Amino acid sequence: MYRALIRCRACGYGPPIVADGIKVEKSSLRLKTVFDLGIQPLANDFTKEGGEHAGFAPLKVQLCPQCSLAQLSVVVRPDLLYHHYRYVTSQSETMKAHFETIRRLIETETSGRRLLEIGSNDGFLLQWFGERGYQVFGVDPAENLCKKAKEAGLNVRAAFWDRRIAEELKPKLPQVILARHVFCHIDDWREFVLALDMVCGRDTIICIEVPYVGDLLRKGEFDTVYHEHTSYLSIKALAALLKDTNLAIHRVEPLEIHGGALFIMLRRKDTDRYPHKTASQFLNREECGEEAWREFDIRAHGKIGALQSFVNCARTNGKRVVGYGASAKSTVWVNACQFDRRHLDYITDTTAEKLYTFSPGTDIPIVHVSTFATDQPDYAICFAWNFFEEIRAKEKLFAKGGGKWIIPHPEIKVI
Ligand code: TMP
Ligand code: ZN
Repeated sequence: MYRALIRCRACGYGPPIVADGIKVEKSSLRLKTVFDLGIQPLANDFTKEGGEHAGFAPLKVQLCPQCSLAQLSVVVRPDLLYHHYRYVTSQSETMKAHFETIRRLIETETSGRRLLEIGSNDGFLLQWFGERGYQVFGVDPAENLCKKAKEAGLNVRAAFWDRRIAEELKPKLPQVILARHVFCHIDDWREFVLALDMVCGRDTIICIEVPYVGDLLRKGEFDTVYHEHTSYLSIKALAALLKDTNLAIHRVEPLEIHGGALFIMLRRKDTDRYPHKTASQFLNREECGEEAWREFDIRAHGKIGALQSFVNCARTNGKRVVGYGASAKSTVWVNACQFDRRHLDYITDTTAEKLYTFSPGTDIPIVHVSTFATDQPDYAICFAWNFFEEIRAKEKLFAKGGGKWIIPHPEIKVI
């Protein structure tokens, strides 16, 4: 189901590779464990009653002392995670506003309108850009989501991003390549970059959107640590990865989405465009070393303990607690707190694919949002905290009826 990762995927730091049968001294080159949540279920393994679960795997972050890349100690088989994928790109107002932000950023860099999206999910972004005059095509490994995109008339291929698919798409000469929240899901970064190199012309702009390790550490967002996120990217680590390639960091823009992300633009090294000053600015002020992780670890375990106590106390006092948003982050919280149905009656979610399933690793059912509207529990933990303002506005009646929201970040807050 998974394999151990012992060598840094950005800079190669780790024990030397030796041929079978050759005896070597034990190496002291080791990635250092900085955060450990024990054995956990896969965060999007929402399964119906009687359905088979994919299994459990260690959830442990290791830090590379050489390039500062934080990465999980194991890599779960990608087909287990992605062939039938239950995460669907949000169609919320927050997300549409975000698309508008990235479209503006892209258009400051290029007037090109041929756009390739890597990790195109159900095609929502492709459609959005298509409606704004872009010629769009996409690649995504999830067969179920590609089917949906094709039904919407989009040009997509069901495949992992690699040199084989790049060879096929090369004649389409994309001028904009967009990879939102996929890069940190990838194990073999060298293959990913080599494939990008094949489709990247001198004027192509590659836009990689990733959660930023700086935000993760600063805001204590430990619930974004799950098996799909194999790396927690710093600009320093990305620079180490790109050092011996034809691509370079051109510009870095911070974004609000998903609790803090980076929009990293890459260009070919032989482009005639000068790198933007933001690229070096980020490099110079990054703090994502061992000390920052130590503080993060203490804070995360403090928050887990605080939510456990809060919910236990509420239950003892006869109050009812539910979850709002069966995000992958909810799976991390629920399992880190060891919650089950005795703690949370249910988690509500708008995603059709998640309905009538159970929160991975537990017996907590995922129910329709209409259940929440009629039920009026005492407390709702907002596990989709990245959309909280939108949810709060939508669910005004909950607060009016005396219900209280529990917000997990930056510190646990009851509203
Ligand atoms: P995400 O943060 O990983 O995108 O997950 C957010 C989850 O929350 C996703 O499963 C959809 C769900 N959700 C709701 O149930 N209601 C909402 O209003 C929003 C915005 C999201
Ligand atoms: Zn490294």
